[in-house]
Amino acid sequence: MCPNKKRRRESILAYWEERADENPDSPAATTDDIYLRELEILTLTDTLKGLLRQRPGSLLEVGCGDGYSTLRIASALPNLQITAVDFSRNMIRNANLRLSKESDLRKRLKFLIGDVRDLHPVVGENQYDLVLSDRCLINLASLKEQEQALQKIAEHLSPEGFFIAIENFVEGQERMNEARKIMGLDEIPVRWHNLYFREDEFRSMVGKFAKTIEFRDFSSSYYFATRVIYSAMCRIRGEEPDYLHEIHRRAVELPWTGAFSPIRMAIVEKG
Ligand SMILES: C[S@@+](CC[C@H](N)C(=O)[O-])C[C@H]1O[C@@H](n2cnc3c(N)ncnc32)[C@H](O)[C@@H]1O
Repeated sequence: MCPNKKRRRESILAYWEERADENPDSPAATTDDIYLRELEILTLTDTLKGLLRQRPGSLLEVGCGDGYSTLRIASALPNLQITAVDFSRNMIRNANLRLSKESDLRKRLKFLIGDVRDLHPVVGENQYDLVLSDRCLINLASLKEQEQALQKIAEHLSPEGFFIAIENFVEGQERMNEARKIMGLDEIPVRWHNLYFREDEFRSMVGKFAKTIEFRDFSSSYYFATRVIYSAMCRIRGEEPDYLHEIHRRAVELPWTGAFSPIRMAIVEKG
């Protein structure tokens, strides 16, 4: 492997290990924007309920972090058996600590250390009705690694299963930044440890195993309210934006409209 890529991967792992250590018991270990995560959890539980329609099912989550969202999903879907993996030991340690306080969930939820690029050592040949990735694949070091991870996800998905991806896309980031520019705001850059997808590349990679691909711009209104309107108000008032400002909590309830967020949900049906 190219030494630069190896170093990049090690730095990304170190970054997540550190975030887990710094946030052992907080919803902010995997994002500072805790209301965005709330919106993700609400959207995911609705989506999973719609797909399962109260039937029992199995779910593999890749890049589960400290399990904060996983535990909420498990509580909301009592017929779901969940295996959740993350390559950060500290994240999995924190996830297991959370799980140890939830005796009802222990029978049908397990957290394991594992890498999305090679799931076999951790889940063997198992296949799942559902595979979920919530902002995991954007942490891989190259498009090639993202493609490799998508292939592994396909291998562990049942023949008629669904892959649900909440990931970041360049096009939404660009639209958000165009709107920010009109309001006199600086561009928000992609962070050093992230590699966003382009929609056409994503479609072509998952198209190798998918029957259908549906995108849902569930966080567009949230991003427009917080990253454009609220940020512009802060600029006018000479204040620093604060993720805990009330506007974030209220924006979770907005109806979805537009395509102004990098974060999109793709529902991919295998076939
Ligand atoms: C942005 S966090 C999201 C965590 C969780 N899905 C959530 O919504 O809170 C990204 C997670 O992906 C994990 N991750 C990154 N690369 C990974 C890989 N190659 N295999 C497994 N997990 C990975 C990180 O350790 C981190 O916990």
